[in-house]
Formats: sequence, C-alpha cells, structure tokens
Amino acid sequence: MTQSKPEKFEKLNQLREEALKQGGDKRIEAQHKKGKLSARERLDLLLDKGSFQEIGALVKHSSTNFGLESQRYLGDGVITGYGTIAGRTVYVFSQDFTVLGGSLSKANAEKICKIMDMAMQNGCPVIGLNDSGGARIQEGVESLGGYADIFLRNTLASGVVPQISAIMGPCAGGAVYSPAITDFILMANHTSYMFVTGPNVLKTVTHEDVTQEELGGAETHSSKSGVAHLCCENEIDLLENIKRLLEYIPQNCEEKPFNSNVVEAVDGAEEKLDEIIPDSSSKPYSMKEVIELIVDGGEFFEIQGNYSENIRIGFARIGGRSIGIVANEPAVLAGVLSINASRKAARFVRFCDCFNIPLLVCVDVPGFLPGTDQEWDGIIIHGAKLLYALAEATVPKVTVITRKAYGGAYDVMNSKHIRGDMNFAWPTAEIAVMGSKGAAEIIFRKEIAAADDPKIALEDKSKDYEDTFANPYLAAEKGYIDEVIYPRETRQRLIRAFDMLKHKVDTNPRKKHGNIPL
Ligand code: HXC
Repeated sequence: MTQSKPEKFEKLNQLREEALKQGGDKRIEAQHKKGKLSARERLDLLLDKGSFQEIGALVKHSSTNFGLESQRYLGDGVITGYGTIAGRTVYVFSQDFTVLGGSLSKANAEKICKIMDMAMQNGCPVIGLNDSGGARIQEGVESLGGYADIFLRNTLASGVVPQISAIMGPCAGGAVYSPAITDFILMANHTSYMFVTGPNVLKTVTHEDVTQEELGGAETHSSKSGVAHLCCENEIDLLENIKRLLEYIPQNCEEKPFNSNVVEAVDGAEEKLDEIIPDSSSKPYSMKEVIELIVDGGEFFEIQGNYSENIRIGFARIGGRSIGIVANEPAVLAGVLSINASRKAARFVRFCDCFNIPLLVCVDVPGFLPGTDQEWDGIIIHGAKLLYALAEATVPKVTVITRKAYGGAYDVMNSKHIRGDMNFAWPTAEIAVMGSKGAAEIIFRKEIAAADDPKIALEDKSKDYEDTFANPYLAAEKGYIDEVIYPRETRQRLIRAFDMLKHKVDTNPRKKHGNIPL
C-alpha cells in the first residue's frame, strides 16, 4: 500500500532524527568521559551558528562481512558537509568515533571525497576533524581503496585550497597519512594520538614499551617529531585555533588573504627595538620579541612553537596585511640553521607561496649547525630545502637583518640574490663569510703562528676582520642591502614595503614541477 503524504513526511523526520543519534547515547557518553566531544558537537563549535549544511546524512555501507550487515548506521561514521567560519565557506568532515570507531569504510570515504571534490570546484578550504581507528577492518581492501582515494585528492588539492587537519582522538594507520599530506595538523593535548603502528604492535615487533601519549601524543608530535603544527589545550581550544589560522589564509590559490584594519604596535615598541640588540654580539636576545614589537598589536600567531625553536615561523599582520614570518631565533642555539629548522621553515615558506601570503624574513644566523650528527643526517640536502623554497617563492619577500648573516646562511635567508624584494639591515648587522675569529684563524694562520704572542695576534687580526666586514655597509655599497635602518623604523618601512609590493607579479620558468631536495 502506498504511503500517504503525512506518512512520507514522517519517514523523513524519523530518518533525520536517527542520523542525529550517531552511535547511540552510551557511546557518546563514553566519548565525553574521555574528555572528547562528539562529531556533531565539534561541528557546532567550529562553524558559524546554524550554518552547517549536511551532505550524505543518509549514506549507509553495504558490507556484509563479519556481522557488518547488522551495524548499518546512518551516515556511516562520518558527518560531511559545508558551513561558514566568520562568513567564509569551508567544507568539513567530522569522523564519528561512536560509529565503528570512526573507521574508514568505502561508503564513508566516498562521502569525504565528495566534499573534497566540491571544495576544489568551489575554491574553499577543507577542514577534517579526524577521530578514527583507521581502515574498517571488516571491509578489507575496499577501505584501503577508500583511503587511497582520499590521499589522491589530498595531493591534488595541495596548493589549490588550504587543507587543515584536526586530530581529535586516536588516529592510527591510514588515518594519519591523509593529515600528513594536508597543510596544518592540530592536536588536542591528552586526547589525540597519531601513529603508524600503535604501542601494542611496537611491543610485539620491537619490544619497546611505550604509552600512547609518549609514542604519538600532542606533545610528542609538537616538540619531538614536528608532525603537529599546534598542540592545543583541549578540543575547544583546538577548534578556536582553526578559526584563528583561517584569518590569515585566503580561500584558495587564486585569492589573496583578507586585509583587516590596522592595529598599532604595542606601546613603547620603537624604544624597545632600539635597545634590544645586546652590546656583545655573542649575547642572545629574543627574535620573537622583535617580531612582537614590529607587527600589528604585537600579535604573532606562532606555528610549531615548540619544535626546533632556533627558527620561528608563524603568521601576523602588518599594516592590516596578513604575512608569514620566518625568523632565526638567537635565543636558542644562537639561531643556527639545523636540519629540523630548515625543514620546518621550508614547508612554511612553500605554504605561504602557494596561497599568496607575503613573507617577512628576520635574520640573525651564525651559519649552519656543524657536527657529525648533522652531516650524517644530511644537512646538505635538508638545509638546501629552505634555500630552494625561498628562492622559488614568488610572493612579496622582505628581509630584515638584525645582526648576524654569516656564510651560506646569508644567502639562504632571503638574500637579494634569491629575489628578496626589499632587504633591510639594522646598523648592528654583521654580514660576512664567517665569524671574525674563525676567519682570522684561517686567513692569517701563518702570521698568527709566527707572532710573539699568538693570542694577541689572533685578537688583532679578528678585530681587523670584524672592522672590515662585521657591519652592513659593504653589502649596502654593493646594493645587496636596500637600506640600513634604525630598528625603530622597521615597522614603518615594512608597512611601506608590503604596500608597495601588493601587486607584485613574478614567475618561475615553465616546467612540470621543480625537484626540491626532499
Ligand atoms: C572497525 C573499529 C576499528 C577499525 C575501532 N573499531 N577501530 N572497527 N575497524 N579499524 C571499533 C571497535 O571495535 C569498537 O566497537 C569501537 O570502534 C571503539 O573501539 P575501542 O577499541 O573500544 O576504543 P579505544 O579503546 O578507545 O581504542 C581505540 C583504538 C583501537 C586505539 C583506535 O580501537 C584500535 O587499536 N583500533 C584498531 C586500529 C588499527 O589497527 N586500525 C587499522 C589500521 S590499518 P564497539 O562496537 O565496541 O563500539 C590502516 C591501513 C591503511 O588503517 C593504510 C593506508 C596507508
């Protein structure tokens, strides 16, 4: 017997209510007990109120293996759709741990792929809230195929639309590789984990006894491995950080980031900048503080702040414009360039270049980190990553040398020679092939050895070298520095420079793609 219209309407009502139930109250409660939100609660907090438009709420899997036919939940373990954040459209998927552990099935992979395809067509960011036990074990190769379908889309979308991954629970196996291809990974402390193989497998295979937290917790990945870009206090903090991150990023590679109203620098910034460089060039100071004294409102949104802190990366605004900042940090390891520092900064530079975000490079670097560890781990290749990334970047690129710019690191840190658009130096800048003592030891070795007092001779020769090279004026004479400025003038010069460069067009030679030293 055909259903009446009220009955048909009631059917839809029932289905909608069923979809909202996810894996049931008990499992949602278990999720809450672990300090985690449900997949729907997360979307409510992330998106503008009432803006979420679900797609595919009625999707079910069609597997019949291992009793799966009796576990056909509406939505099949992932909630997908689109909504707005601060009025901007974003596409989202939120894996639902209460349905078969958020595991990835063929059907739920298809849902994720559908919204990724829509995001590409419509030029909007994709945000994935990941909370998944990996490939749905009962489905076998179909779920593996589902992962590969997502990986392909992640790769093709890379550099076209921003992709942000939130890790909201235990993410194992395939569940970590999709985030790894995306632009940013955010983790919630003590409730999110990422590993290719979990602690149990490790115990059996390598006999290592390690907790989930130690192996793949938020602190581990934000300080040891560098896999996570932000370690957030909890899920709510994480969702807020996604919104903050988006403020600096455009919708897609064809657009520019949004300008906002200019917020002045913090009070007393100019005086503090003039005083910040210590008298002795071997004394540390905080480049992070320099950044905070230069940018709008002193607000520096640092990325990977606990990983390889000898280089700082992050977003800020200057004169209302969004910029990406890469800066040596003399307060940590004298700001030296290490393998991890180079990898960290290179990936960030490439992100900014993909999405038309101008770059500010702040330089105080004594060179590359020496040592067998670094050499044997390949600093030659890894150090070249940052060189390559900055050299190929065509966004506006402005440099400020505050103190040391020695050796190859001078070239690497957005020198004029690799297309720095405006290169400033403070009067305290030291631009030379190497530090004066090291230089004197090499070029005056014979004279020093023959001197009555080699120690004094070394000091004299070092001073000679320092007087000649440890300043910005030779570089300025050659045009390698556009202007030597007082520290207090930095903010004003940068606002002017980025404004002047706002319509910059630069290109690289036609090619399929370059071959960055990976
Ligand atoms: C199907 C799964 C599942 C999975 C969890 N569940 N993972 N169902 N496939 N992969 C189900 C559980 O049976 C359980 O169902 C519910 O989800 C919650 O899981 P629990 O184990 O009770 O939760 P918890 O104790 O918090 O542990 C979470 C976990 C653990 C650490 C994620 O479930 C786990 O180790 N799962 C397997 C992880 C894994 O090895 N995945 C395959 C990776 S291989 P009920 O009905 O009880 O609620 C892979 C290959 C892709 O992904 C490679 C591509 C490169």
